[in-house]
Amino acid sequence: VRCEVGDRVRAPKDFFRPLAVGAPEPVREVPFRPSRMIHFFDPGNPRMAAKVPDIAPDVDVLLGNLEDAVAADRKEAARAGLVEIARGTDFGETQLWTRINSLDSPWALDDLLTLVTEVGDRLDVIMVPKVEGAEDIHYVDRLVAQLEAKAGVRRPILLHAILETPRGVASVEEIAGASPRMQGMSLGPADLAASRRMKTTRVGGGHPDYLVRQDPQPGAADAPRAVFQQDLWHYTIARMVDACAAHGILPYYGPFGDIKDTVACEDQFRNAFLLGCVGAWSLHPVQIQIAKKVFSPAPADVAWARRVIAAMGDGTGAVMIDGKMQDDATVKQCRVVVELADALVT
Ligand code: GLV
Ligand code: MG
Repeated sequence: VRCEVGDRVRAPKDFFRPLAVGAPEPVREVPFRPSRMIHFFDPGNPRMAAKVPDIAPDVDVLLGNLEDAVAADRKEAARAGLVEIARGTDFGETQLWTRINSLDSPWALDDLLTLVTEVGDRLDVIMVPKVEGAEDIHYVDRLVAQLEAKAGVRRPILLHAILETPRGVASVEEIAGASPRMQGMSLGPADLAASRRMKTTRVGGGHPDYLVRQDPQPGAADAPRAVFQQDLWHYTIARMVDACAAHGILPYYGPFGDIKDTVACEDQFRNAFLLGCVGAWSLHPVQIQIAKKVFSPAPADVAWARRVIAAMGDGTGAVMIDGKMQDDATVKQCRVVVELADALVT
């Protein structure tokens, strides 16, 4: 399934693959739904679960996490908690996602069996961690199709891959195009750092030692030299964005673990937004507002984009606005900004 530029903020429309014999006719229309923040909660934690109804109206996506950060002896409780929450909560416009356990764990099969058959009609997206190649998505796709047919789920559940292993990064394009169910992909910087043997001990964000130093100034070898911290994740995010755009699915920055450093979190989210990502994970309520701000185009940028579009008439040719050259390609960039802004207010 390929989407036009204007459809990049949507899930693919005509994506459903044939189901098992006798399965009900699927519902194909997928309206735009924002996903600027994917807010993680532990459904087995009663204190967090109790807050879900209050948080739901504030976020675009609520994700019941079953994987990492849920201890091995609490996996069943988390799964059962998610079933209960999915059944008993009115999510309104907010999407409900889950992150299942990885396919090499003892829990993934039960996660899929339970969730799709018990609450498949409430689930929008299943996030699959540690995806290594298209075969992982094919496996989940086929299982989900069977379980949907068994349970009579008419609205297809979409899939989202976390890019967090070197093999996954090497296969990013085939993963993005592995199934018409693919909704998007997130960077998983913590697992990616571990599996690449990077020398960091954090969840995403920068590192004070990953920097570039200005050359010594001629004749002032001892003078202080400016240092610039670099973005550890630039390369992977750029690869992910290209793969997602090529296949008409959505890219996301993942988690930012230093909850107190709201400034650096905003910077990391903004870099991802400028490179093409549509959202990020929020691990704490404080990150919800950061994501909302960053992943909604700023009013001044929208106003500028509208001005360029208006000045360019049919969108071809060239004009100068405030000394800046505009042409067919800048109109297309401006349309991306305006379409996102319009989609977020409707
Ligand atoms: C997320 O799952 C990560 O590993 O960063
Ligand atoms: Mg991970």
